[in-house]
Amino acid sequence: MTPDLLEQGAQRAEARRAAAASAGQTASGGRATGFSRLKHNDEVDTTHGRILYLEDVNVSFDGFKAINHLSLDIAPGELRCIIGPNGAGKTTLMDIITGKTRPDSGSVFFGSTIDLLRYRESDIAQMGIGRKFQKPTVFEQLSVFENLELALKTHKGVLPSVFFRLNSEQGDRLAQTLHMIHLGDSLRRQAGTLSHGQKQWLEIGMLLMQDPKLLLLDEPVAGMTDEETARTAELFLSLKGKHSLMVVEHDMGFINTISDIVTVLCDGAVLAQGTLAEVQSNARVVEVYLGR
Ligand SMILES: Nc1ncnc2c1ncn2[C@@H]1O[C@H](COP(=O)(O)OP(=O)(O)OP(=O)(O)O)[C@@H](O)[C@H]1O
Ligand SMILES: [Mg+2]
Repeated sequence: MTPDLLEQGAQRAEARRAAAASAGQTASGGRATGFSRLKHNDEVDTTHGRILYLEDVNVSFDGFKAINHLSLDIAPGELRCIIGPNGAGKTTLMDIITGKTRPDSGSVFFGSTIDLLRYRESDIAQMGIGRKFQKPTVFEQLSVFENLELALKTHKGVLPSVFFRLNSEQGDRLAQTLHMIHLGDSLRRQAGTLSHGQKQWLEIGMLLMQDPKLLLLDEPVAGMTDEETARTAELFLSLKGKHSLMVVEHDMGFINTISDIVTVLCDGAVLAQGTLAEVQSNARVVEVYLGR
């Protein structure tokens, strides 16, 4: 694919996305489709202004309270940053949302109708909640292109097949994704030869191929160079609005660049929430985290 074709494909994919977004806005918000079901057009019901809603969630591991009466919600299209000291429960929060860890009590809703606690991890991924772990997990022997193509196949439950062909919409999405993750010139390159930062982008690209509604990213810039971190900030800012994002990071420069609202977790609960400047001037936040 040439850069021109990539650009054209990216533009077509963006036009399709915009058309689908406007078509999906119905007066009822689709609640009539019933409890715990996705709307027929695959949209999550966010008519109450929330794509993710946790209330009074508790998790204990062998008597240790990792999550302690945690309540949190995120608006559609929001880019929420989560910060907090080691052991605060940030990764456990993602484990709960993705169905990896079951809370002892509390509510976790995707939109206003989907009770995530009723679903398995694989179902939750299919519903459109994508997760990026800290370590990049790309297929090192495959090319950048093949990694993205595989992400699409596995997500749609297509059996690995020689007959699988990208349709034009999927091809356009792949082109758009390559462009966004700055790997448009490297599509034939073996993933194992990419830098750490490029592998992280490729994995984010693999998630984007699945067109997630909510993306959970755990320490995405750890180990990146300053330049890679700056490019990642640009990428996340470009995803905001189209996807909802929850980003856990310790890198305050990065948080400063991308954040609107920052939630500070400590001892499994929300300690403070607000703009970065607001939480940075909170005496308790300084004491338990930023002042160290
Ligand atoms: N499966 C588990 N079994 C036992 N304890 C666990 C388990 N998962 C997490 N914990 C404990 O729960 C607490 C919260 O861990 P978590 O990994 O969520 O913290 P974190 O905020 O992500 O920290 P970091 O910034 O270091 O990544 C820690 O004390 C951790 O040891
Ligand atoms: Mg963690």
